[in-house]
Amino acid sequence: MTATCPALRLSSVFSGYGRYDVVRGVNLTVEPGEAVALLGPNGAGKTTVLRTIMGMVKHWRGSIAVNGVELAGMKTHSIAQGHVGIVPEGRRLFVDQTVEDNLLLGAFRLRDDQARVRQLLGSVYELFPVLSDYRLRRASALSGGEQQMVAIGRMMMNDPEVMLLDEPSLGLAPIAVQAVARALKELRGRGRSLLVVEQRIDLAMQVCDRLQVLSGGEIVSEQQASWLDVEGRDLISAYLG
Ligand SMILES: Nc1ncnc2c1ncn2[C@@H]1O[C@H](COP(=O)(O)OP(=O)(O)OP(=O)(O)O)[C@@H](O)[C@H]1O
Ligand SMILES: [Mg+2]
Repeated sequence: MTATCPALRLSSVFSGYGRYDVVRGVNLTVEPGEAVALLGPNGAGKTTVLRTIMGMVKHWRGSIAVNGVELAGMKTHSIAQGHVGIVPEGRRLFVDQTVEDNLLLGAFRLRDDQARVRQLLGSVYELFPVLSDYRLRRASALSGGEQQMVAIGRMMMNDPEVMLLDEPSLGLAPIAVQAVARALKELRGRGRSLLVVEQRIDLAMQVCDRLQVLSGGEIVSEQQASWLDVEGRDLISAYLG
């Protein structure tokens, strides 16, 4: 691990399901403290890219490195130990468990360091005060936006350096989308590295430094969010369909 390594680097990564290749030679980097958006139409392979990084889909070729450490071939639990966290598509909460129990499940790796777990729990409640009010409620009793906060909080409890988020704004009302955007900006401000799969270009531009467009399992466009003019926006929108 050196200071000059990207937080996350994918080099010529191929992966897929059975004999069907979905990710076809993806190159992508996220620098330390940077937020990168992965945009693309339905079925482009965005979720598969995140699942490949987490070792949940077998990668066939190419390199996946976090802080210079090669992950390819490692098991998912070892990858999570190596400081990568994910907010999965569909949130995947334990809806019959309380908010706090869902959060604590995220800290499984740190269970022997209860002081650290309490500190992390405090930082989740600081970021999402509503979750502190609802800590003893069942997750099923929360709104979609609040459930998304639990999913982000659960990822934070693992204290990952690299955070992968799969469509954190999906299905949320505008006010909840803004809460999620604020949270992601805050995490980036705390020096975390984010790879955010999004369908909403406005949210991606608000939160991320760079936008990558995935189509047919390949990166087809890359733009700096701050340089994105109307033409660039139209180009990306055309890919999103
Ligand atoms: N478990 C699976 N088995 C076989 N094929 C799959 C599986 N999961 C996804 N696929 C296929 O892989 C392709 C990419 O799917 P993926 O979920 O990565 O796309 P996505 O970009 O995340 O789409 P969306 O925007 O709809 O979430 C699709 O054609 C999909 O049908
Ligand atoms: Mg998806």
